Amino acid sequence: MATVCRLSARLFRNSAVLRQSRQWQQTALCSVVAGSAQHTLSVRKRIENMKKAALIGGGQKRIDKQHAKGKLTARERVHLLLDPDSFVEYDMYLEHDCTDFGMEDEKDFTVFGGSLSGAHAKKICKIMDQAMLVGAPVIGLNDSGGARIQEGVESLAGYADIFQRNVNASGVIPQISLIMGPCAGGAVYSPALTDFMFMVKDTSYLFITGPDVVKSVTGETVTQEELGGAKTHTVTSGVAHKAFENDVDALLQVREFFNFLPLSNQDPSPIRECTDPWNRDVAGLDTVVPLETTAAYDIKDVITGVADDSEFFEIMPMYAKNIVVGFTRMNGRTVGMVGNQPKVAAGCLDINASVKGARFVRFCDAFNIPIVTFVDVPGFLPGTSQEYGGIIRHGAKLLYAYAEATVPKITVITRKAYGGAYDVMSSKHLRGDTNYAWPTAEVAVMGAKGAVSIIFRGKDQEKNEAEYVEKFANPFPASKRGFVDDIIEPRTTRRQICRDLDMLSSKKLANPWKKHANMPL
Ligand code: HXC
Repeated sequence: MATVCRLSARLFRNSAVLRQSRQWQQTALCSVVAGSAQHTLSVRKRIENMKKAALIGGGQKRIDKQHAKGKLTARERVHLLLDPDSFVEYDMYLEHDCTDFGMEDEKDFTVFGGSLSGAHAKKICKIMDQAMLVGAPVIGLNDSGGARIQEGVESLAGYADIFQRNVNASGVIPQISLIMGPCAGGAVYSPALTDFMFMVKDTSYLFITGPDVVKSVTGETVTQEELGGAKTHTVTSGVAHKAFENDVDALLQVREFFNFLPLSNQDPSPIRECTDPWNRDVAGLDTVVPLETTAAYDIKDVITGVADDSEFFEIMPMYAKNIVVGFTRMNGRTVGMVGNQPKVAAGCLDINASVKGARFVRFCDAFNIPIVTFVDVPGFLPGTSQEYGGIIRHGAKLLYAYAEATVPKITVITRKAYGGAYDVMSSKHLRGDTNYAWPTAEVAVMGAKGAVSIIFRGKDQEKNEAEYVEKFANPFPASKRGFVDDIIEPRTTRRQICRDLDMLSSKKLANPWKKHANMPL
């Protein structure tokens, strides 16, 4: 299978970088200097025994307990994630050195709920440093109760060391976190600093402190699932990007996902051989936009319509559904897709949609992934709840992200592009490289009804509305000014995008030098 081979080649070449809070697995290459054959034999035996002990982790009982919960052990997870025999393990024999609370008798990593000891932290930091050195992504499989309470400040220091590395690595190498059990404290903050957080349904949880601590501090009674289950974080809080059915599903999907990404910000995204003709007409797109301007349709039909083999790896599919983001390939190249979703809240931009879109656009820009934007947006959502929640600040994030992005930006206005949202959604004015409109496009300050009620107050609304529609609810004013480069037939959209991506592959654009930007947070 092509995917398997490529994953193997990429990870092997870069010394498979994986960290894992419960069990940390690596194979050390040891050179044994032996004074005599006898001595060599005894050293070999010791190594064998230590390896055996390390491999059994917290013991069969704990492995059985993990299995009974429907979860795999760390080594089983790593083997599923990677190609056979491609994992190279470091520091298998590293032990914690805590002697408080009888800890000297407990040397194994699977005990204490995967909580982080100073020794764990050193292993994680070591591999992260090496990943940065060679330019390899970091994938973390997290199943941990956070800082190990018995080790006190030693474990807090360990987390801070990891956080610093997460931040240093941000935008340099992709960082992916897979949450595969209850994670608390530092075990949530480290993933939160990474690019993507995926969860496993029913067995993974994220919270800064678990239900027991919540009960003792606030008196609230709450289950792990309610407090930080996959539903909570993929639907309500937006902390996690996607949830998978079980450990196996999660690991296999992360393999797929990984294939979209470059190894680092210095590497191109992998190009997959494409058998889907780049110039394929997509006849269905000619009728996807309903005749009635306020009727809904599914922007995902447009995205999958143009994508290679209709494949789309959606990010945050359950959160802020009024904007759709995710990865596809176009003629084999990885592309970040952003689309307003007319099916949900008419595709308006609100606080959550703006933040979701901004974070995605920034990831693509950091890792040189071109962005294709489908626009059908009636504007920013008005109202007190949005204003009190800071829509100005949050909406500015999306505006900022698009304006800052220097990767190839291709924009297709399928229908409405109203008001500030027109500007924000990868417009020509924010350095959109190629901007197209379908014949159904309406580029205006607002919709006809609203506009006429303001500028023709008390006058013949119907007549003026018809005139407004004729004048503004079409792509011509924008195209006359060069704000859209062409009005294209929807069926030709795939070939247009593929051609542009080819042309823009040599694009060079840099922002003015700065220490770092100060984007609205
Ligand atoms: C030491 C821990 C531990 C911890 C769990 N264990 N968390 N040991 N330090 N932080 C141990 C338990 O004693 C138990 O040991 C085993 O792990 C499994 O834990 P259970 O509670 O039996 O499992 P479960 O019911 O599934 O609950 C998991 C949990 C809960 C929700 C994670 O254990 C929990 O609430 N732990 C504390 C989480 C927390 O508040 N961490 C914050 C640390 S502060 P045995 O031997 O019985 O198997 C922190 C700050 C970092 O991380 C900096 C942030 C910025």
